[in-house]
Amino acid sequence: MLAAYVSHFDPDHPLRGLAIGARPMPAGRESWTRVRVVAASLNHHDLSSLRGGAAMRQRGGAGLTEADLPKILGMDAAGVTEDGREVIIYPLVTRPGQFGALSGRYDGTFAEYVVVPDENLIPKPSSLSFETAACLPTAWLTAYRMLYEKAEIPPGGTVLVQGASGAVPTALVVLGKNAGYRVWVTGRSDETRAFALKLGADAAFEMNARLPERVDAVMDVVGAPTWPHSLKCLKRFGTLVAPGATSGYAATVDIARLFTMELRIVGTAMGSLQQLEALIDLCASQQLPVPIDRVIGLKDIGAAFDAMEKGRLRGKAVIRFRG
Ligand SMILES: NC(=O)c1ccc[n+]([C@@H]2O[C@H](COP(=O)([O-])OP(=O)(O)OC[C@H]3O[C@@H](n4cnc5c(N)ncnc54)[C@H](OP(=O)(O)O)[C@@H]3O)[C@@H](O)[C@H]2O)c1
Repeated sequence: MLAAYVSHFDPDHPLRGLAIGARPMPAGRESWTRVRVVAASLNHHDLSSLRGGAAMRQRGGAGLTEADLPKILGMDAAGVTEDGREVIIYPLVTRPGQFGALSGRYDGTFAEYVVVPDENLIPKPSSLSFETAACLPTAWLTAYRMLYEKAEIPPGGTVLVQGASGAVPTALVVLGKNAGYRVWVTGRSDETRAFALKLGADAAFEMNARLPERVDAVMDVVGAPTWPHSLKCLKRFGTLVAPGATSGYAATVDIARLFTMELRIVGTAMGSLQQLEALIDLCASQQLPVPIDRVIGLKDIGAAFDAMEKGRLRGKAVIRFRG
């Protein structure tokens, strides 16, 4: 079968280790299901996989090693089982003794077929396209958990999203408005700020601009360049939620502000299977818009990763498989 996989690591030029070619059909396993992938979506996690896991392992995370290669990329997918069920795949395997992620311990979704534990399959509502469904399991699930579990925003409160047009920021805008919050964003350009406003954001500011008033929570996907601003923007008892950093991990924290304002800094990663089920229900029942920058064939994945690396995607990039 055709797949996109990591052939070797290159921390500085991750796309040099990206290969597209034939891989063996995944073998069936007891209580695992083989899924024909219809659509899959790209995440920064895939770029991290191509860079190699050394940096993440130093920070306590899991990461690929040479011994894991070749490894099929991809966390997110929607597809069809051999008995004809349309499903969305939850990317984390949480069985005792088998813990791991697709594209980590197990081969991922950028392939014509993938095998996953039976309980990782969620029925795809017919009102969601395969392309939309494939966007939800990582970036959107992360945004869902940030807003609804981690941030503890009071009803009708104000949330600042650092970033305007990326995958997690756009999910935060859509989900935040749907929850009744006032949602402000910062963006790097007029174009990205306009993108967020069109999606429903209440206001859009230049990066690191002074805000009209302090906010209840800040969702910071950017990292080092915005963390000082994020902390300054928070009300007393406010929360900074951090799912990652597109632009640098080594941020400066004003510790005096942290304790005098009694702020909280909360890290977050992905979400649970139950949260993904709830997110899928929400997106289907409310017909929430899920911005997709492009739908591509597998052969164009390199250009889409390049756009992601350069911060040029507006929402998600989705691979559509033939068949
Ligand atoms: N912990 C988890 O489970 C999890 C899950 C998903 C993602 N993440 C992490 O969350 C972060 C965001 O993911 P994403 O998919 O939303 O990324 P993305 O689509 O590339 O979006 C990046 C966002 O960051 C903003 N940004 C500001 N300064 C930037 C700079 N110097 N370079 C690049 N972007 C900059 C961009 O603003 P503009 O809109 O103005 O361009 C954009 O909105 C990544 O670090 C990713 O690894 C973590």
